[in-house]
Amino acid sequence: MIHYFGVNGMPMKNILGDFPIIEKVNYLNSASIGLVPKKVIDRTKEFFVDLTRGGTLTLDEEKEALVYDGLREQGAKLLGCDPDDIAIFNSVSEAVNSIAWSLELKEGRVVSTGIEFPSVTYPWLRIARKGKIEVKLVEAKNWSVSVDDLFSEIDEETRVVALSHVEYLNGQKWDIKKIAKQAHEVGAILVVDGIQAAGYLPLNVREIAADVYITGSYKWLIAPFGTAIAYISKKLCDELEPALVGWRSTEDMWNFNARELTFAAKARKFEYSTSAYDAKLGLVESIKYLRKVGIEKIYEHNMALNEILRQELDSIKGVKVITPQDRGSIVTFYIEGKDSKNVAEKLRKLKRPVELSIRLNMIRLSPHLYNTEEDALQFLESLKKAI
Ligand SMILES: Cc1ncc(COP(=O)(O)O)c(C=O)c1O
Repeated sequence: MIHYFGVNGMPMKNILGDFPIIEKVNYLNSASIGLVPKKVIDRTKEFFVDLTRGGTLTLDEEKEALVYDGLREQGAKLLGCDPDDIAIFNSVSEAVNSIAWSLELKEGRVVSTGIEFPSVTYPWLRIARKGKIEVKLVEAKNWSVSVDDLFSEIDEETRVVALSHVEYLNGQKWDIKKIAKQAHEVGAILVVDGIQAAGYLPLNVREIAADVYITGSYKWLIAPFGTAIAYISKKLCDELEPALVGWRSTEDMWNFNARELTFAAKARKFEYSTSAYDAKLGLVESIKYLRKVGIEKIYEHNMALNEILRQELDSIKGVKVITPQDRGSIVTFYIEGKDSKNVAEKLRKLKRPVELSIRLNMIRLSPHLYNTEEDALQFLESLKKAI
């Protein structure tokens, strides 16, 4: 039985009212940028305006600390861990770099894949220029990387396995628990980029035993740009000295003791500076919003839409879906003999334009909680006409 918010008694109208653009645009592009609900926009704006107008009149020391405390708390609820194991960053790329440099690897192997998003592999390629580190990127066959091919590269030399939970290109979803077990058997750690998963995929980072799980604000978490949250296991956190440091790195950031660098005992030792606090507060609000709707319900909803798209696409002549069965809320395809960009251009010119992404000359669709069955059907009808 397929569930949609619209037919299952969920407050579809209330949800859609928070995303007014949906009336005018068939927005199937959350893997690129998610739409931000009104409440989140209001909270972000309100803080920004108050702070810029009032400075310390509106932001005292206690309030400043509370911004990150509140986000660690919500982040922990989203990821299924303790707030002490959460560090706040400004982007996923920043967080991956921070972990990569903090590991201070001198030798060994880092295993990832050749179809990853660049921010998942670049930090390791960069550190590999120092020391005897080999980055092994497992290549896809038929657009997906098999778990067997990945495992065949994880050996005694391996220090790190770095992967996305859900791949940005084809939506492939990795069995993180299984990979963590394999990595741990050889003494390696697993660093997961969850930006294409958190926000609709129910998560419990402790249960799946990732050592680091990072996610970002502006896609499925429907918040503004400018925030990433990272779960760092207590064991790993205790072993690492953060590579990036600043006034917030210490237990009491208000002691201003420039002579001595003593790190906080928790994951927040990886935080080091002020940042766009408005964006952090926006993310607090959006996680509350998503959890109120229910991550499990969003998952069912997104995957139901995904299934409609996938099944229908499979039946259209010339359409080749590259997304594997085990997937997140992404469907990617190409059309034999056609330029995807031209097809996308036609879909953008419709009365209710379709918004999607072109990745490596393929069309990527990524439905989220604000999409309906009608959006999927409208897209499919329009695509058939366009080709
Ligand atoms: C898998 C993945 N990781 C990281 C990013 C970029 O994250 P950030 O902009 O926060 O560095 C993207 C953006 O598309 C992505 O798909």
